[in-house]
Amino acid sequence: MLSETMHWLDVRKDLWYVDANLGGGGHSRAILERGGLVLAIDRDKSAVDRFLEESGEAFAGRFVVIHGNNADIAVHVQSARVRVSGILFDLGWSTIQGEEAERGLSFSEEGPLDMRLDPTSGETAGELLERASEDELSDLLSEGDEPLAIPVARALVQARKSGRLPRTTLELAGFVSGVYYRKGFRRSRRHPATRVFMALRIRVNREYENLERSLAGSRQVLEEKGGRLLVLSFHSGEDRIVKRTFRKWVSEDAAGLLFRKSLQPGEEEILQNPRARSARMRGVSFVGR
Ligand SMILES: C[S@@+](CC[C@H](N)C(=O)[O-])C[C@H]1O[C@@H](n2cnc3c(N)ncnc32)[C@H](O)[C@@H]1O
Repeated sequence: MLSETMHWLDVRKDLWYVDANLGGGGHSRAILERGGLVLAIDRDKSAVDRFLEESGEAFAGRFVVIHGNNADIAVHVQSARVRVSGILFDLGWSTIQGEEAERGLSFSEEGPLDMRLDPTSGETAGELLERASEDELSDLLSEGDEPLAIPVARALVQARKSGRLPRTTLELAGFVSGVYYRKGFRRSRRHPATRVFMALRIRVNREYENLERSLAGSRQVLEEKGGRLLVLSFHSGEDRIVKRTFRKWVSEDAAGLLFRKSLQPGEEEILQNPRARSARMRGVSFVGR
């Protein structure tokens, strides 16, 4: 959805844009190639280092890159002393991170139960499974839309009591498949562990809290001077927060929707990148005061 994103962000020469999820740098580079200036943020230091290495020279003097949490966007913008015309969020994790087995994000590759996007801070998924109560586990699994939240949480706590808690990604994937099998689920399009991995990743990285804070911070940045905010989300939990927040802003006359319904990628993009299937883009424009 790169060209739609650039179109709706309304990228203009020599104006500043925040790429709040730098990742592989695709959006930042697209803004820079259109003449815009970029303040890019990522909580993963390797994304920051990679961008500096690959694109630092080509776009020298036209961007600022920050290793930090985009939930602190207002602070980052303030300390960079830039006047921002648009903000883009491309939520979740990058394909590069998914392919790094040691991060433990993928259930199809053996790795530790880590799942932190910023491996330098916070609790890992393994530590969370070691200490969380059954209620906490079933709540967090439900928040990630896991249909078997209660049985999976119960089975995990029982396994912990008997010293058989899964310790790696493949062990956890097999464990969840076992719960599904015992509950009579035999075959489905999606791997049974998909939602469990997503729910753990969301909790480990505090993704919902960060999203709420990021949206509030973006309003702070854009409300006074006007500007556009675009959010690309990848699952219903994120999209619900974005939709609800945008509706509230519209009802307060703080912003207007750029388009009424969320935009989704076309068939061709989905064929090239199956992960794009669940992408939804929403956008608002702040009028400025
Ligand atoms: C979907 S990828 C971004 C892809 C990128 N837009 C591109 O064009 O390649 C999401 C990125 O956001 C980062 N991220 C996730 N949560 C974050 C947060 N709260 N603050 C800063 N970065 C975050 C992840 O580390 C990951 O690199």
